[in-house]
Amino acid sequence: MLPPPSPALLGDRSLFPDLEARAYLAHAAVSPPSLPVRRAVLAHLGALSRQGAGYFGGALAQRDRLRQKLGALLGADASEVALVSNTSLGVTMVALSLPWRPRDRVLCFEGEFPANVTPWQRAAALFDLEFELASADAFRTRPDEAMADLEARLSRGLRVVALSAVQFQTGFKMPWAEIARRCHAHGAELFVDAIQACGAVPLDVTRDGIDYLVSGGHKWLMGLEGAGVLVARQAAAARFHPHLAGWLSHQEPFRFLTEGPGHLRYDRPFVESARRFEVGTLSAEGYAALEASVDLLTALGVEAIAAHVDSYLVALEAGLVARGFESLRSPTAAGRSSILGVIAPEGREGAAAWQRGLAAHGVVTSCPDGVLRFAPHWPNNFAREGAYVLGAVDALLRAQR
Ligand SMILES: Cc1ncc(COP(=O)(O)O)c(C=O)c1O
Repeated sequence: MLPPPSPALLGDRSLFPDLEARAYLAHAAVSPPSLPVRRAVLAHLGALSRQGAGYFGGALAQRDRLRQKLGALLGADASEVALVSNTSLGVTMVALSLPWRPRDRVLCFEGEFPANVTPWQRAAALFDLEFELASADAFRTRPDEAMADLEARLSRGLRVVALSAVQFQTGFKMPWAEIARRCHAHGAELFVDAIQACGAVPLDVTRDGIDYLVSGGHKWLMGLEGAGVLVARQAAAARFHPHLAGWLSHQEPFRFLTEGPGHLRYDRPFVESARRFEVGTLSAEGYAALEASVDLLTALGVEAIAAHVDSYLVALEAGLVARGFESLRSPTAAGRSSILGVIAPEGREGAAAWQRGLAAHGVVTSCPDGVLRFAPHWPNNFAREGAYVLGAVDALLRAQR
């Protein structure tokens, strides 16, 4: 039996009663499930245990609700939202379905997480495209030069620019709205891997001009692994080639199961929206979890979450810099996300040992590619944890001497 959940409050982790860490700072890797998420999964399993196939309609209604809620969270219409199992699958779906012409050019970014690179390389190989890489970190360190380089590439005729909203190592928040504006001025489209942003960094696909967005659900969205979201704007989705389609990609896919004989056909038109990418049966538990976590995020408000996390990271960053760490956080507010990446005093080689050392003190971080990454979310509270985290750092520094 799970305890009844209390209302969610910024800085209060009572919805995570079993979390062992003294400070859990690895939301950029995976979020532990909150009580409402766990209860939603149990409720789903309960309904399935009692009703079996009788719960089918309930599960479909739950997915309709979830698409509405995800659309509201991300600034999209529900019809533009598809449920996909992970980021990589969402990128793959779009990369392999665009109406490419041979020699079309696609731009990805060096230093990004491979989930938003590999599928574009595959599309390039399959459809005879030109694949280019620009530096992602240049937007943090040399923004004017990076934007001028992008502009020059767009002038030469890019078809798609594919970037991560938030860089997974430095936490740099890319200027995606400005990039979208420039893409559209040159007839290109913008694809955004937003797994390090959705739920913790304000983002609105309509306001910001994002053509395609994908996010796994297990990081800042605080759902479970294997249940994520894809947004494809209506105008863009209508042009997709159905290279990837399944029985649920057709219009009225369930009729033959519910309305008697005469409806089993293979020639029904494909759905002309992102929904086409829901090709087969989905993880109902995963989406029950995601709905509960989206409800929490919506109740707290992503703007409020971002401000709460920023004040945590400003204080932590100051403490770490004073102890000899190099901060990779953007000096400008516009470039900051919910991730603080730092380089250890002894350099990138030290990151894994720091991650292990801190974990032994109950401070859970992650260390991608030599960057020690601190990633708090709304339940973290610097007043409660900050002195302990910096005390653990001090203890490890003393042990090094
Ligand atoms: C930027 C980024 N994209 C994608 C992923 C994960 O991709 P997937 O959801 O396909 O596992 C991660 C981290 O795991 C990430 O940091």
